[in-house]
Amino acid sequence: MKSIIITGGAGFIGSHVVREFVNKYPNYQIVNLDALTYAGNLENLKDIEELPNYKFVKADITDLDKILEIFKAYLPDGVIHLAAESHVDRSIKNPAAFVMTNVVGTVNLLNAAKEIWNGHFDGKRFHHVSTDEVYGSLGEVGLFTENSRYEPHSPYSASKASSDHFVRAYHDTFGLPVVLTNCSNNYGPHHFPEKLIPLCIHNILHGKPLPIYGDGKFTRDWLFVIDHARAIDLVYHKGKNGGSYNIGGFNEWQNIDLVRELCKQMDEKLGRPAHTSEQLITFVKDRPGHDLRYAIDATKIHRELGYSPTVTFEQGLSKTIDWYLSNQEWLNRVTSGDYQQYYKMQYNG
Ligand code: NAD
Ligand code: TYD
Repeated sequence: MKSIIITGGAGFIGSHVVREFVNKYPNYQIVNLDALTYAGNLENLKDIEELPNYKFVKADITDLDKILEIFKAYLPDGVIHLAAESHVDRSIKNPAAFVMTNVVGTVNLLNAAKEIWNGHFDGKRFHHVSTDEVYGSLGEVGLFTENSRYEPHSPYSASKASSDHFVRAYHDTFGLPVVLTNCSNNYGPHHFPEKLIPLCIHNILHGKPLPIYGDGKFTRDWLFVIDHARAIDLVYHKGKNGGSYNIGGFNEWQNIDLVRELCKQMDEKLGRPAHTSEQLITFVKDRPGHDLRYAIDATKIHRELGYSPTVTFEQGLSKTIDWYLSNQEWLNRVTSGDYQQYYKMQYNG
């Protein structure tokens, strides 16, 4: 039986990746390694937690001794690394936490894999999950390719860029069998409501202002989270050793247009008169160092591995809203406690 350690499996994207692998590969032992920070939630995996090929281990990737102990106990053939501090606004408030988890934590995992594989790399793989934000910001035209220059602007993207460099360095220096993916913005069920889409869904439900940074003309390229999980499966199994793949669905939206679309769909689903929720839109102070535009050229993964997303944005957004409407208990639980303090600090100064 093959064994794969998936880090960050209790988070937003990680939980979808764990579910995809546990359901699709009953002959793999999937070990979810997660510290359960504010962003980790085992409720995200309730439907699969009893399956025999799934196991959860609580650990912090900044603790090398603990990580080594776990790697020696489970002897993984593969690692899919998603654990990270992931929110740009939090990285502006506390950059050091991002260096610890995203840089030091990644190096710890690389060292643990290097130690247990000990030069025997046949059938082994370290898949590092990264972001398009490492490439910095685009102007009004152009797309990020795998060869775009790294030019991060936020502490978050700088820490992810650094971790990407370490992953490549372990391949080039020690021969570690690595593969990297850089994906555009994800959305879907279980997304923590500090990020734009779930934050707006939550605020529309509660009649609270929808805070739009600056003039709202910032552009992001959105992919449904399950399509990201499918791409990770494909690259983990078929990606070229040492290679990197951009993941995206050619789906750019200016923030203001996206939030208007969200308001429209929510009004319809909630049976509210048209344009009700739009009135909650409030322009607020811009994010410092705010990247103008991200857009992924996903030609390589399509051409080499035959990848295409399965869900259009309209379908994905509709599924996402439906999930939040049916899981308001989840939303209430994750927005109680610490979240209130975060929200006050971020939006009420
Ligand atoms: P998330 O914040 O929802 O989840 C992160 C998970 O990592 C949580 O379960 C948390 O408990 C865990 N974690 C954090 N610090 C840890 C530590 N020190 N040790 C062990 N576990 C720890 O993040 P996400 O949005 O699911 O992102 C997952 C990965 O995908 C990240 O590496 C992120 O950079 C990357 N990514 C995210 C997006 C996006 O749009 N969200 C896009 C592209 C790439
Ligand atoms: P976010 O979901 O934080 O993802 P990222 O910064 O990683 O792209 O933000 C998406 C876009 O939405 C980004 O341009 C910032 C903007 N934004 C707002 O306008 N208001 C908000 O309250 C948040 C959280 C984000």
